[in-house]
Amino acid sequence: MIRVGVVGIGYWGPNLVRNLYETDGVELVAVADRESDKVSKMTRRYPSVKGYNDGADVIADSSIDAIVIVTPAETHYAMAKTALEAGKHVLVEKPLTLLPEESLELTELADQKGLTLMVGHTFEYNPAVRRLKEIVQAEDFGKIRYIYCTRVNLGIFRHGINAMWNLAPHDLSILFYLLEEPPVAIRALGRSFIKPDVEDVVFLFLEFASGSMAHVHVSWLDPSKVRRVTVVGEKRMVVYDDLDSEQKLKLYDRGFESTLFEDGGILDYQVRLRGGDILAPKIENREPLRVECEHFIECVREGKPPLTGGRNGHRVVQALAAADESLRTGGGRIEI
Ligand SMILES: NC(=O)c1ccc[n+]([C@@H]2O[C@H](COP(=O)([O-])OP(=O)(O)OC[C@H]3O[C@@H](n4cnc5c(N)ncnc54)[C@H](O)[C@@H]3O)[C@@H](O)[C@H]2O)c1
Repeated sequence: MIRVGVVGIGYWGPNLVRNLYETDGVELVAVADRESDKVSKMTRRYPSVKGYNDGADVIADSSIDAIVIVTPAETHYAMAKTALEAGKHVLVEKPLTLLPEESLELTELADQKGLTLMVGHTFEYNPAVRRLKEIVQAEDFGKIRYIYCTRVNLGIFRHGINAMWNLAPHDLSILFYLLEEPPVAIRALGRSFIKPDVEDVVFLFLEFASGSMAHVHVSWLDPSKVRRVTVVGEKRMVVYDDLDSEQKLKLYDRGFESTLFEDGGILDYQVRLRGGDILAPKIENREPLRVECEHFIECVREGKPPLTGGRNGHRVVQALAAADESLRTGGGRIEI
């Protein structure tokens, strides 16, 4: 049994508590939150679990092997560092840290100590995203030309971070997972409409060495909730709509075919539209967070490198930091 403690049981923490509690090979030992009512609600639901009011007490509990950190982003670095120094394996929610150098430091610390450090990039454990990757990597999809992601809704306003740091880690982790390459440059434009200096709307533009490009639109100021990724390939196109419970993926066997021809010594392209079927591929029905928790426990038990380890977390933080720099310069192109 791997003995686990969860720190932070606000909005997202209870989902990790439930999944860890139900994961084979896990003994959920303790939960902690600064707010006592949240702790008592959890210990009422799970009577065998101890409750604390400070994450430091869970980290100090010598019977615990692994700490799951679900506190606000600005606390991740210090708490993960304390936990690793105390010899605990760590699963941290996204973003891993707020500074790239902090992500690298945690990664190196975990490596030195032979501990598992994993970041909760949940979408890389999502069966729909995994199927999406199979589709876009297949030969009949062709090279990925561009990807655009939309992650918008009305609220929830977070403290300490802007909409980009809150929402874009998901899209960046999906982009890097699909493309299997880091961006070479990034630009970001945003505005703080509601609270001064906290961007509630951000548009990101990413360039990749392969020639693919990507766009990410995140917002807390939108009338409707949208969670969509569109991938346009040379031969096919696919749309992933996370909010569509029946057809999360739609594969369009459509595109343009162009042939070069010569007319009176002049070379030109003849462009022909190819309109084929729309398919809705079958997706395995598993909760992504359960897959993530099982993977974390397997990595801890077997000493395997996690799919979303420290370096995976770092590349997202590095892209966000570059985007931040671009935001401050009004959309300047920042090379990574
Ligand atoms: N993977 C996902 O899909 C997903 C979804 C939502 C949130 N998140 C991430 O989860 C994390 C938490 O987000 P949230 O929306 O639940 O925030 P939240 O503010 O609702 O909850 C955070 C909780 O942490 C507690 N806390 C803070 N410092 C503490 C400490 N030192 N000791 C004990 N408790 C402490 C707070 O009291 C609060 O209840 C963030 O990193 C966020 O990005 C991930």
